[in-house]
Amino acid sequence: MKIIELKDEQAGGKVGFEIFKEALADNAQVFGLATGSTPITIYKELTASDLDFSDKISINLDEYQGLPGTHEQSYRHFMAEHLFNQKPFKESYVPNGLDEDSEAQTAYYDTLIAEHPLDLQLLGLGQNGHIGFNEPGTPFDVQTRLVDLTPSTIAANARFFASEDEVPRKAFSMGIGSIMKSKKILLVAYGENKAQAVADMVEGPVTTDVPASVLQNHDDVTVIIDEQAASKIK
Ligand code: F6R
Repeated sequence: MKIIELKDEQAGGKVGFEIFKEALADNAQVFGLATGSTPITIYKELTASDLDFSDKISINLDEYQGLPGTHEQSYRHFMAEHLFNQKPFKESYVPNGLDEDSEAQTAYYDTLIAEHPLDLQLLGLGQNGHIGFNEPGTPFDVQTRLVDLTPSTIAANARFFASEDEVPRKAFSMGIGSIMKSKKILLVAYGENKAQAVADMVEGPVTTDVPASVLQNHDDVTVIIDEQAASKIK
């Protein structure tokens, strides 16, 4: 793992942007994308740039079950607002949270990823060490699944909703098996509340208790963190 410690998320946005730029220069075709507060500064740099993704494909990590893509807190809506409206891709895929046939939706998503192998996967990090919505205990070889969000993830995401009760309890998530097949991985984490998960990911044993620790087994991972997120690394 290559660890880049920076002052703050503005600096992280600039370095993350450079990693996207290099991937484009290396002829990357398929970009795995994430939502949440962490990638926002990278998306700001991308939308302000002249980089062109109009012949590229994006595949998002996850989507809440039960939210239509028009819902303000759906990940499809988030991506449109923060990236796709300003910087369109040729094709952009986000799981369909309204598909009542969850097995069909997960099979469809796995076929999509198999047909379009990921060149660069962007990840945030859960306070509990999750990547995508692969929560602690998730086997490392799983593919796309409908997952139950843990109480800690529901509480962490309540900040985006009017109340915790409104946070969906389930989400479709790309599996760790698919994430690990990406050619390159960029994980970004900011703030003190990520510090323990960062230390466990980087220094701890590789264990399903800390899903992000599996990244120690990948040979091309870059981690961007700020000083607070780095504060528990020994
Ligand atoms: C989002 C995702 C999640 C987040 C993680 C951190 O698509 O897959 O794993 O990356 O929960 O969220 P933030 O960035 O809001 O702290």
